[in-house]
Formats: sequence, structure tokens, C-alpha cells
Amino acid sequence: MVELTLPKNSQVKTGKRHEAPKDAKRLREFKVYRYDPESGENPRWDIYQVDLDSCGPMVLDALIAIKDQQDSTLTFRRSCREGVCGSCAMNISGRNTLACTKGMDELPAGAITISPLPHQPVLKDLVPDLSGFTAQYAAIQPYLQTVTPEPAAEWRQSPEERAKLDGLYECILCACCSTACPSYWWNSDRFYGPAALLQAYRWIADSRDENTGERLDALEDPFKLYRCHTIMNCAQVCPKGLNPAKAIAEIKKAMVERKL
Ligand code: SF4
Ligand code: SF4
Ligand code: FES
Repeated sequence: MVELTLPKNSQVKTGKRHEAPKDAKRLREFKVYRYDPESGENPRWDIYQVDLDSCGPMVLDALIAIKDQQDSTLTFRRSCREGVCGSCAMNISGRNTLACTKGMDELPAGAITISPLPHQPVLKDLVPDLSGFTAQYAAIQPYLQTVTPEPAAEWRQSPEERAKLDGLYECILCACCSTACPSYWWNSDRFYGPAALLQAYRWIADSRDENTGERLDALEDPFKLYRCHTIMNCAQVCPKGLNPAKAIAEIKKAMVERKL
């Protein structure tokens, strides 16, 4: 019989409890994943009682209140607070999303559980190491490539050509989709994942780009592209309402069409 040994730090222990001020009237409990790899200690779940009258309505507002008022050691990423930068992506009550655009009142009643984006190494608390994810984005060469001489004014597109980029250009590279994708969990070293592939298709679909053949050649690989099994988790979690699975299907279609 196979014996499996889990890494020591895979066991998440019960952590500390932080109470809200005694005069707080509207309370909500947050169960937050805490981990510092440099401490040598196992991860733990810390519990915070948050005074909802002392913070804004979004999950990120509660995390900022926790950091400001209860525990300055809590670590998480955020920048724009507008759903634009993608840095506050995390798993909130079991679903990858952006903390800054997720209202607490949208979540089921009771405690809100927050952990880092799944299946990525954790740098600290809610901050995942996305260096593999960003390397895959760089690998798809996310910039305009042309061979014809540069025009004097601009690369022109018709409204119809421009419309083909709708549903693609809005991606903020938050990584919610890739880290929700089972194929990416098991093969993230070789499968590019939904975010990088949606971005790849963004340039394949761009009428101004003249490197389509080379872009498709670079993706013609059993792992980079074809590990997508159309499970559709990516489209369900995207906080911008995008459909990476559709973009992946379009790349596969372009692969077939160029051979006809
Ligand atoms: S497709 Fe959506 S979920 Fe994926 S990285 Fe882009 S914005 Fe985030
Ligand atoms: S559709 Fe493809 S990329 Fe999206 S979650 Fe499923 S396997 Fe992953
Ligand atoms: S802080 Fe920028 S997307 Fe949430």
C-alpha cells in the first residue's frame, strides 16, 4: 500500500483570537489563514471579531481595519481598491475573488473565511508567490509584434476589428482563474493556465499583430495549451466576468483552421 506523507506545514492549526472593542455593536467574525514560512511554525487560522461600524462594506475594508486596529502583522496585497490592479485576489469563503469588490453582505451569513489563492506557494499570510504565473504571462509575449514598417501616425483598426478584443483586454491578471483551475493545480509548471492563454488569445485576435503563426507555433504543445479540459472553473470565478475557457477554445480552433 502506498504511504503518503504530507509536508509538515500542510496542517493548519488553530490560531489566536482577536476580540473587537467591548462597545462594538455590529460584529462579524473573520477566520484568516496566517503563515510565515520563515518562522518554522505551521500555518494557523486566526479569528478576528470585526466591528462593522468601524470599516467600509467590502472584505478588503475589513482586512484593512484588522490590520489598522487589531493586528498589524497581518499581510495581504492591495493597491487600487477599485477592482483594477488585481493585487487583492484571494480565496474568500471558498471562492477566488477580489477582496476590494466583494461586499461582505454578498457572502453567506456567519464567519467569513479568507485564505490565499490556492495551490501557489505562500510568501506570507494571504500573499501567494505568483512568480510562475507572471513568467507564463511573459512567455506569451504580451505586446504588439509587426513586420511591416511602422506607420507615421498609428496602427489603425476598424470598429469591428477592435470589437474582437472585447472580453479579452479587460483582464487584470489577478490570477483568480488560473488558481481555480484543477488542470493548473496539477500542471502549473507546464500548463499555461487560463489567464496566460486568454492573454495569448488577446494578441492572436488583434488585427494589428503580424506574428499569429509564431504565436500559435509556440502554443502547439500537449501541456501549454491542451491541458485545458473545459472544466470552466475559470469562467465561473473571473471577477471581471471574462471567459478564459472560450478564449482557449478559440486558440484551439485557430490551430485546427490553419491546418485545413
Ligand atoms: S481572466 Fe479574469 S480571473 Fe483570470 S486573470 Fe484575467 S481578470 Fe483575473
Ligand atoms: S476551462 Fe480549462 S482553463 Fe478553465 S478551469 Fe477548466 S481546465 Fe482550467
Ligand atoms: S486592490 Fe486592486 S483589484 Fe483589489
